[in-house]
Parts: sequence; structure tokens; C-alpha cells
Amino acid sequence: MKTISLALAACALSFTAASTASAAEPDMAALKGEAAGIIKAFAGSLQGELKAAMQRGGPVEAIQVCSAKAVPLAEQAAAESGWSVGRTSHKLRNPKNAPDAFEQQVMADFLDRQAKGEKAEDLVAATVVDAPDGGKEFRLVKAIPTGEPCLACHGSSLKPEVAAELDTLYPKDEARGFSAGEMRGVFTLSRKL
Ligand code: HEC
Repeated sequence: MKTISLALAACALSFTAASTASAAEPDMAALKGEAAGIIKAFAGSLQGELKAAMQRGGPVEAIQVCSAKAVPLAEQAAAESGWSVGRTSHKLRNPKNAPDAFEQQVMADFLDRQAKGEKAEDLVAATVVDAPDGGKEFRLVKAIPTGEPCLACHGSSLKPEVAAELDTLYPKDEARGFSAGEMRGVFTLSRKL
């Protein structure tokens, strides 16, 4: 059985407890640390569900688990922390994960940097922007590299039964044809300041 390992090496950032960030002077290091902790927890739970489902019933069963659990697990990670947490991509599988303008811009920059030789696992952007409803918000976007185990469902040679299941669930699927190491998408987090 293959192990599913997200290359989230950059999670060595410190786990800083509840930040004292204010709108005037956000503590960027503390916010980045908090975000890294949430990504680690979210990625870990998703990875666990995916691995268990692959072992139980192979990729076709795992597709259903991924499809049913990804959003609730993100919401759980968010609810526990007051952050908003999700995944998006430049090549979407589920149109509900579509990026907003900010995420689109960050992913375009990441793809540029990847084309110039930077590794997907090193791509991260953190900034403070105007919140849609006034005030400021902290946003962090971190690239998710494609690992070997991801290729069963996101690579270029899918098993026919996997392709058929994906065709049924995601008729507009664009998230195929990835190679190991390439940016598959991003984790996207935000928190009102
Ligand atoms: C068993 C099949 C399967 C495997 C293996 C798999 N995925 Fe997915 N992936 C899916 C499905 C199904 C979705 C759609 C989930 C949804 O409906 O929100 C998805 C969605 C995503 C998304 C959200 C953006 C989008 O396109 O909707 C990202 C990012 C992603 N996968 C990355 C990965 C990475 C990285 C790996 C390897 C660690 C991986 N996936 C392994 C099936 C899989």
C-alpha cells in the first residue's frame, strides 16, 4: 500500500498560540504560524481519510470519500480556529472550489515561479488585504505539490473505472494530467483582523 504523503515540509513554522494581532499592527509571524498549524491538521485529516479509503476499496471508493469529506474537514479545521479554510486550483475538479480574484492572481504567480524552477512545496504567499465587508483580513495561500499517490486520480493515465467515476461525478473535471512535483492546487486560508 502506498503511503499518501503531502510534501508539506514548510510546516516547520512555529505553532504560535492565539495571536494578539490587531488591524493596526498584524503580527505576521504569529498569523503564519497559526495558518501552518491549520494546514497541517487539515492536510493530515484529509490524508488519513484518503489512505483509509484507498485501503478499503481502492481509488473508486476513495473518490467518494474525497468528494464527501474534503469540504467538511476544511470547515472543521476552520470552525475550531475562526479561520476560513479551503482548497482551490488553476485546474479544477469541483467547480465549487473555484478561486476568487486574489487566489487566481497568487496561483498565476506561483505557476510563473514554478516555470522558472521553484519547487511547488516552497510556494507560499501571505498578506493583509481589505476585507470584502470592510476592515482588513490576513490571507495565506500555500501550493500543494502533486505526490505520487495523487496520480491515481490526478495523473495522465487513470484506470478506466477511476476515469468513469470521475466523469460521472465531475463532468467538467480539469484536474487530470498532472505529474509528480507539479503544483496541483493550493490551500487557501483567511482570517478577519
Ligand atoms: C482517490 C482519488 C483521489 C486521490 C488519490 C487524490 N484526489 Fe484530489 N481530488 C479528488 C476528488 C474526487 C476531488 C474533488 C473533491 C471535491 O468535490 O471537493 C479532488 C480535489 C482536489 C483538490 C481541490 C481542488 C479541485 O480541483 O476541486 C485538490 C487541491 C486536490 N484534490 C489535490 C490532491 C492531492 C495533492 C492529492 C495527493 C496527495 C490528491 N488530490 C489525491 C480525488 C482524489
